[in-house]
Amino acid sequence: MPNPSFPAIRMRRLRAQPWSRALVAENALSPADFIWPLFVVDGENRRVPVAAMPGVERLSVDLVAEAAVEAASLGIGVIALFPFTDPAKKTEDGREAFNPDNLVCRAVRAIKKAAPGVGVLCDVALDPYTSHGHDGLLDANGTIVNDATVDALIKQSLVQVEAGCDIIAPSDMMDGRIGAIRTALENTGHQNTLLMAYAAKYASAFYGPFRDAVGSAKALVGDKRTYQMDPANSDEAIREVALDVAEGADMVMVKPGMPYLDIVRRVKDEFKMPTFVYQVSGEYAMLMAAINAGYLDRNRVILESLLGFKRAGADGILTYFAVEAAKLLRAG
Ligand code: PBG
Repeated sequence: MPNPSFPAIRMRRLRAQPWSRALVAENALSPADFIWPLFVVDGENRRVPVAAMPGVERLSVDLVAEAAVEAASLGIGVIALFPFTDPAKKTEDGREAFNPDNLVCRAVRAIKKAAPGVGVLCDVALDPYTSHGHDGLLDANGTIVNDATVDALIKQSLVQVEAGCDIIAPSDMMDGRIGAIRTALENTGHQNTLLMAYAAKYASAFYGPFRDAVGSAKALVGDKRTYQMDPANSDEAIREVALDVAEGADMVMVKPGMPYLDIVRRVKDEFKMPTFVYQVSGEYAMLMAAINAGYLDRNRVILESLLGFKRAGADGILTYFAVEAAKLLRAG
């Protein structure tokens, strides 16, 4: 029985040659799509491996500057910074976050000196600095207080911007923080600072290795479900993004990545905003575990995992694979 669609339609015609596949490819990855997260640690010429993230190291400020130069040479546009704070500097109120000479601020200045063309993104949340490991301030009952936390986040944002940060990225999930930070930036002459809101950030088990990397895992009392989103929800993500857009976000982010591709697609379709996705530490750890066990092909799975985000509607991707993927793309 001949197939009734023959000879008009044969889907395999366009798949037959590398050039014809490339000609009709709907999505592509570029190093310019990547934001590379780096963990900063005290000291000089110091690298400290992160146990649960094979291949990822915490770097001292001088090495962060070198890494930024490498990123620039590969066409990666933006570095994101996360500090491993000395436990002795952690307090209930996380005040090291507003120290203009803290690790993040020193790293921002070092990057701006060594690689002025690279954009620098700074996370805004108190968790690397608090003794309890939460993103916000606690009251006597252990409840995270919203509005006092927002005041602290404003202070944290301003020291980072003063240090030279280009993109402020609040990851704390307090209500109203995008608007409050936007107003504070306007009032202090920082009209051109970009805001990337971690708009739909879920309370996820996939952040485990990151909390180890910044040293907040052991400290964390309880969980973050009173401020991060319930993985059961999707409409709620749309409400979160709508608020952050209305409050002045230039870019919005969905986090984690791979288990939330449906959210990336909904957000992109609904808002047409510059939309980002974070391939988080647990996704990296999961892929690396399978790669190192020989179960998955390293180069192919790295690029496929990233291309999936573009297909889902992301304009850019925060990924620990940024440098490796940029090298793979360059090698063709
Ligand atoms: C801090 C923050 C987290 C991540 C980015 N910023 C952890 C958390 O919310 O507990 C996670 C990144 C990753 O897992 O790679 N608020």
